Amino acid sequence: MKRILVTGGLGFIGSETTIELIKNGYEPVVVDNLFNSKSAVLDRIEELTKVRPAFYQVDCCDEKALEKVFGENEIDAVIHFAGYKAVAESVEKPLEYYRNNLLSSIVVLRLMKRHDVHGIIFSSSATVYGVPSRLPLVETDPVQEATNPYGETKIMIERIIEDEAKADPDFKGILLRYFNPIGAHPSGLLGEDPNGIPNNLMPYVSQVAIGRLNHLNVNGDDYPTPDGTGVRDYIHVVDLARGHVAALKRLETLKGVDVYNLGTGRGTSVLEVVKAFEKATGVKIPYVIAPRRPGDVASNYADCSKAERELHWRAVLTVEDACRDAYNFQKMNPEGIK
Ligand code: UFG
Repeated sequence: MKRILVTGGLGFIGSETTIELIKNGYEPVVVDNLFNSKSAVLDRIEELTKVRPAFYQVDCCDEKALEKVFGENEIDAVIHFAGYKAVAESVEKPLEYYRNNLLSSIVVLRLMKRHDVHGIIFSSSATVYGVPSRLPLVETDPVQEATNPYGETKIMIERIIEDEAKADPDFKGILLRYFNPIGAHPSGLLGEDPNGIPNNLMPYVSQVAIGRLNHLNVNGDDYPTPDGTGVRDYIHVVDLARGHVAALKRLETLKGVDVYNLGTGRGTSVLEVVKAFEKATGVKIPYVIAPRRPGDVASNYADCSKAERELHWRAVLTVEDACRDAYNFQKMNPEGIK
């Protein structure tokens, strides 16, 4: 298993994974429609690895164009990142989210079948657990109704992959449920580069740190958590990328479908993130307490012991490491990647 199709391979997690694949002797074939990423990311991957991976500017919903990629490259396995991911936007534009995320996944799976590619690793999310009834979350906890269409697409795609594995004994899949990916490549060349005002905590804090945004709004301080602010399991994107390389190794011997939480196993509150950021960077983050965000849960963190046991992987970087790297990226790319 060597040549890996990476859909969404220029995105925040995809680009970091492409780098880890190259470092580990794989040959990534990157597909990205540049909807939420920049072509300059490819140059930066080359700068960092001295390898320019094969790249196709293709939308995974475009079966004809993606067919050409499968035809021109002997693909051994797929890592499927491509998809829309903004929770609030998915509530406003459900049809866009269902169409894009489901169709692209179905097209990828159909082409895998046609070209005898048997293994897929899918970017799923902790969001499939819905409102947790106990913590930490383990993989056997029930998948529950999501609070938004984005989350529903993750649940549905997981199900589609499971059904396909039931229908085809040669087909295998690994569902990776990410908790909260943060941080950036330590070089500062790659990182999270959202369009417009960030929805997520870490890019928001980074933009406050460089003065692009005025202050952080802490969404709720009356949750049943130690300091009243929301608790999440923040995982450094480099650790997360390495988790995909570990999953590829597991895919070689796997039969059917398996699922792994990728997190750190530790919960950190919003105010703890602010403190960690200030400690790591020396920059003060002004904040005000704002109302809760609709749909937010109080706490969410993973039990990652299955990944440790079976993938021989665990997160080693800290929230402070991630804050330092995110700030470094933001300073080097104040207006995002050009
Ligand atoms: N938060 C703030 N202020 C902000 C942004 C976020 O206080 O400006 C708080 C949130 O209320 C939450 C925490 O910071 O308590 C983390 O929020 P993020 O938006 O960074 O992350 P979420 O946990 O809401 O979302 C993440 C992923 C989603 C996924 C979801 C559930 O980004 O893709 O986890 O698994 F669906």
